[in-house]
Parts: sequence; structure tokens; C-alpha cells
Amino acid sequence: MAPAVQDRLPFLASPPPARERGRNPSLAEMLRLVGAATVDPADDDGSASAFSLPLPHATTTPDRDAVAGVAGATAIGRTVHFRLAFSSLTYSVRAKQHGRGGPGPGLLPLQRRSDRVTTRALLDGVSGDAREGEILAVMGASGSGKSTLIDALAHRISRDALKGAVTLNGEPLTGAVLKSISAYVMQDDLLFPMLTVAETLSFAAEFRLPRALSPAKKRARVQALIDQLGLRAAAGTIIGDEGHRGVSGGERRRVSIGTDIIHDPILLFLDEPTSGLDSTSAFMVVKVLRRIAESGSIVITSIHQPSQRILGLLDRLILLSGGRTVFSGPPSALPSYFAEFGFPVPDDENRAEFALDLIRELESSPTGTKPLVDFQRTWQLMHARTTSPAAAQGDGGSAMSLKEAISASISRGKLVSGSDVAGEAASVRTYANPFWVEMKVLTKRSAINTRRMPELFLIRLGAVVVTGAILATVFFRLDQSPKGAQERLGFFAFAMSTMYYTCADALPVFLQERYVFLRETAYGAYRRASYVLSNALVSFPPLVVLSLAFALTTFFAVGLAGGVPGFAFYTLAILASFWAGSGFVTFLSGVIPHVMIGYTVVVAILAYFLLFSGFFITRDRIPPYWIWFHYLSLIKYPFEGVLQNEFGRGGECFVRGAQIFDNSPLAGLPDAVKARVLASISSALGVGIGADTCVVTGRGVLQQAAVTQLGKWECLLVTMAWGFLFRILFYFSLVLGSKNKRR
Ligand SMILES: Nc1ncnc2c1ncn2[C@@H]1O[C@H](COP(=O)(O)OP(=O)(O)O)[C@@H](O)[C@H]1O
Ligand SMILES: [Mg+2]
Repeated sequence: MAPAVQDRLPFLASPPPARERGRNPSLAEMLRLVGAATVDPADDDGSASAFSLPLPHATTTPDRDAVAGVAGATAIGRTVHFRLAFSSLTYSVRAKQHGRGGPGPGLLPLQRRSDRVTTRALLDGVSGDAREGEILAVMGASGSGKSTLIDALAHRISRDALKGAVTLNGEPLTGAVLKSISAYVMQDDLLFPMLTVAETLSFAAEFRLPRALSPAKKRARVQALIDQLGLRAAAGTIIGDEGHRGVSGGERRRVSIGTDIIHDPILLFLDEPTSGLDSTSAFMVVKVLRRIAESGSIVITSIHQPSQRILGLLDRLILLSGGRTVFSGPPSALPSYFAEFGFPVPDDENRAEFALDLIRELESSPTGTKPLVDFQRTWQLMHARTTSPAAAQGDGGSAMSLKEAISASISRGKLVSGSDVAGEAASVRTYANPFWVEMKVLTKRSAINTRRMPELFLIRLGAVVVTGAILATVFFRLDQSPKGAQERLGFFAFAMSTMYYTCADALPVFLQERYVFLRETAYGAYRRASYVLSNALVSFPPLVVLSLAFALTTFFAVGLAGGVPGFAFYTLAILASFWAGSGFVTFLSGVIPHVMIGYTVVVAILAYFLLFSGFFITRDRIPPYWIWFHYLSLIKYPFEGVLQNEFGRGGECFVRGAQIFDNSPLAGLPDAVKARVLASISSALGVGIGADTCVVTGRGVLQQAAVTQLGKWECLLVTMAWGFLFRILFYFSLVLGSKNKRR
């Protein structure tokens, strides 16, 4: 494909001309600029990235329109120009009738009273276009449909439900192409709090930039991005969270944007990137968006209440009210627009605020916003011809075919991910890295996170050691008597359930990470399988430490049997329980998205596992209709395993001679009486039971506990298998659960 592009675009081969500050380049220069695939990373203003095209900085909107106009009309038609156009976007959802009077402001119920369900249009015939080098901002009161419009354009609403057309350079956009050339910045900053700004962006680079790109180039891209985002000073600071001081809110937001644009996407969608920021931080964010657009991208963002300064950075504005367009055009046209409509903007007032206030007033008036919607249509028709020739022109005139445009864009350094330098659109790969690289990077990141938050591990270690120490003192030096045997059973039941309960502590950590995961897999940063595997790998070493800690605190103090092999098996059984327990909790975190519900479910299920483990009621006594739960009980298997480890070796005796009376009403009799009763029993039975005869061995205890079905190694294997099974289920829960599309 590369030669074909070069043939059609001979300028691609020519070297980039030197740029001078403050001068708009000539047409010829612009053409040659397109070929600048590797511009110096340190651009003259230090802002453009190594991989992006420094488009001319047009300072005023008419200027830019003029450039676009020429581009649309003349030979520049061959210039790389992306144009996203959308027309008559309509998206309705069915809403239940709430029995109130009329529809509220901004509601458009299509009359369908017969089925008692109203259809509510969240978007109603919204049209517009957005171009390379520009920011299209969607503005409106909350609930006006901004997020819905962004979602519709970003292909996050299923195309069956969405009516109307979205085209890029006149061609319908398929989900796959869109996914590979675009980025969607979510409203929340889902970042790992313990990574620094530079690390966060480096990991994003690892995930999204192709392996073919050398590490040096990747580093250069990260450095260029840090400059583009204006984060040079904060590069070494951690992101931070409630417990750790980190970067400011505005910087955080810019990092968040940075992780999504590391591959230099052609299309960038953002939903209210400035919300929650103070005006200076918000301005900085929009300035960054301006730079991104100028590097040759289309930026589409929703924005709640832009300040006058921010308004000056926007190229196009769509104002929504109740899902309908009430203004569409450059922000500079706002005053004349509202003046023509009969409501001139006072000189000293913020145009955006004025517009929003006016719309709010109209919404609560009897006529609603209909007059403004209608006025918008006629205004649009009038001005489309006079001010923006490119817009009036058909889609075909302004741009080359989509595939060519993408190829050309890649050849000049855009869309770093998946591009085999000058590769074609069709070859844009789904994942940047092979499986093992993903594994390596994910594992490395988790390791850094774990290392920087030692308190999480220390808390778990503390919980395990404290529980172990309490158990060790309560069950200190158990003897080999009938009571001792009972107490051993109790100790094991409690000890084995402890493993599972301490795993539940990890639930919030998993949940927090889940959001980052959802965000990253949404744009295909890595395979879900790599995540599941690396997650399991990283979580394993701490479990070994925890197991050893618990085994050491309890084994010798309680006086468990079996010497070194016994200790080894005991430790393995604990490790297997931790493994199964963490798998179980990980799986639940994939299914249940809320911490409180998660805890409740985990604790309840673990209680039932313990109930059916075979300690409180032995297997042979469980009612047949509950026996399935016994076999599901994760605690059953390690519990039976350690019981066999303790009692299954023969030789130990737990009831000897007169101890036979220990748990009976005869226990209180004097020893001499017990000896006589024992003698008469043995003569009646015809077997000689002396004072030292073993009546119940360890195996007998196992028989009584109905622990007879599986060997101890089988128990260990089954416990480990549960751990694996839950991680496989976790994988499926991620595959099924992470479709974030509206229907
Ligand atoms: N799935 C849905 N079902 C019904 N109403 C919805 C749904 N999603 C969003 N809405 C409603 O659509 C309107 C527009 O939502 P949204 O696009 O999120 O607004 P904005 O981003 O401008 O605040 C809101 O009134 C919202 O309550
Ligand atoms: Mg919104």
C-alpha cells in the first residue's frame, strides 16, 4: 500500500520545511508539511508531538474557515483531510409512563399511549460536522443529550437503535475502523494511584504502541506527549488518591486524556473533560485539546459551562436542548445568532452562560424551545452557503477516500498503534502486542503497584498472623484425648475458613482495578486473558508468604502431627485455600460491581461454605437435598485434607481404655469405678480392653467425621482446581461483562 500512497501523494517523500513561528505557511509549504512523518520531537513551541503534524496555527475562526474553504475547493482536495459528518441522528429509548401530567421540559414523548410506554427521544435529528484540526464542542444543560451525542458518534450506541448517518470522509464508519483510529476519554480518571505520571503514560505506550516501534521511539513519544499535555513538571509525581498526595485534579485529567491519546488517534471523543475542574485547570485541559486537534486530529468534546476564554479555543459549537440542536456554528457567531433571534447577548456577559440561561427560560415557557430550533434550521441554511463553502460542498469534495486518508495519516506519523508504518487501514491490528508482552507489562505494572502499596499486603499479613496467634494460644498444645481430637477438628475448621475470609479483604482492591481494566480493554489495550493470567501470577507470591506465616504461627504451637512432611502438607493446604479463596473473590469482583453487595455476598457464601464443610454436620448426616452444597463448599476440601494429614497416619490413639467414658455421663465416675465398668464391658463383648488399649485411632476419628471419600492429596488438588476454575470463570465474566454499549 505504501508505494501506492506515495504515487498519489508525491510530496510524502519530500523533507519537511523549516517552520517559523508566527507565520502562516503557504499552500505549498502546507503540502510539504504533510510529508513530515518525523518532525523533531521538540517542536518550536515544544508542544507538538514527535509523531504529529504541526498544522498551521490559525488564530481566528474565519481564518481557519478560509483555509478549509480553499481546501475543499481546490487541489488541496488531495491533502489529508478528515471530516466526520453526522446527519439527522435520532436515538430513542422506551421509558415507562410515570403518570405525571405533561412531559417535562425537553421531553419529547411520541404519542404511544396504547402500550403505556412512551418513546423518549434523547437525540432528535442532530446534524453537524467536525474536521481535522478543529474542536467540536457539544454544549447544553445537564440532561440535554451531550453524552448521548458523543456516545452516538463514538459508536457506543448500537447502530440498530441509532437512526441517521455518521460518515468519515463520506464513508460510513465501521466499528472496527472507528475503534482503531479513535479514542474515547471517559468522564472519570481511572488511573492507578501509585504510578507516576510518566509511568502511567509509559504503560499506556506499552499497551497501545506496536512492538515494532523501538523502545527509544516509545520513550520519545511519551516525552513528547508529556510536553503536549503540559505535564513536564509533574512527570515524576504519583497520581495519588485519598491516602496519598499526588498530582492536582487538572493534571490528573490531562494524564487521563494522555493515556487515551498515546497512539495519536485521528478522532478523539471526550465527555465533559473539564467538569469538576477550576477554571484555570479547565482552560489548560482545553488548550491541550487544541494542541491535539492542531496535530491533525478531530476533537469532539462535550462541555458543560465553558468560560469565555475556553469558548475562544473552540472551533464549532453545537448547543443541545432536549436532544435537539438549538445552535450550531462557530462560537464567534453566538452574538449575531442570538441577536437575529431577538435576544442580543449583553456585552459584559459570558456568551455561553447567556445561551444556556436563555435556553433554560425557553424550556420552561409554553412554546418550549421550538421557536429556537426552527430558527436554528433557517439560520443554518442561510449561513451554510455564505460562511462555510466547505460545509456546503458534498462530502466527496473535501477529502480523499477514507482508506487513503488513513494511510496517509499513518505515513506521516499519526495513529502510532497498529500501523506498520504506512500500513493501510485494513491492517490496523486489534492488539498492539503479542500475548507474552502483554503479560510481561501487566505483571510489571501490578508489581510496581503492589510494591508501592505495601500496607495492603501488611494488613493481610497482620490479619493472618493475629488470627494464627489467637488460634495458637486458644488451641495451645492439644493433647491426644477424645477432647483433644474434637478440638483439633474445631481448630482446622476455623483455620481453613480464615484463609477464605482474609481473601475477602481483597475485594475492594479488585473492584478498584476493575474500572481501570474496563477502560483499558474498552479500547483493546490488551487481551482479557493476559489480564486474568497476570493477575493470578502477581497475586500468588504474597499468598506463599501468608501461608508460611500462618503455618508457622500455628503448626508447632497447636502441636499438630506429622513432623516436617506434615508441616509441608499443612502449608500447601493453606496455600491452596488462599489460592481458591482469592480466585473466588476475584471472580465475584468480576460479577458484582459494588463493594457493599460484594462483601455481603462473599461473607454470606463463606458462612454457608463453612456450615456445609462437614465440621458442623458430617457428610453422612447432611440431608440429601443439601448434599450438593457440601460438595460445592470450598472449605470442605482443604478441611478434609488437613484432617487426613493429622489423623490419617495410623499409630496415633485418641481414645484409650477408660477415656471411652470421657464424653459420656460416666465421665465423672472415679477412675477405679471406670476401670471396673470397662472390665465388665470387655468381658461382655468378649474382647480385652485394658487401661491402655486403643479404642479409637486417628482413622477412627476420620470415620466419625465422615472424611472417607478423598485422599489428602486429592483434597489438595481439588482445592487448587477450584482456584483455577474461578479464574476461568473470572475470564468469562470479563468477556461477557465489559460490553459498554447502549442499545
Ligand atoms: N438509557 C436511558 N433511558 C432513559 N433515559 C436516558 C437513558 N440514558 C440517558 N437518558 C436520559 O437522556 C437524557 C440525556 O442524557 P445525557 O446525554 O447523559 O445528558 P447530558 O450528558 O447532556 O447531561 C437525560 O435526561 C437522561 O436522563
Ligand atoms: Mg453527560
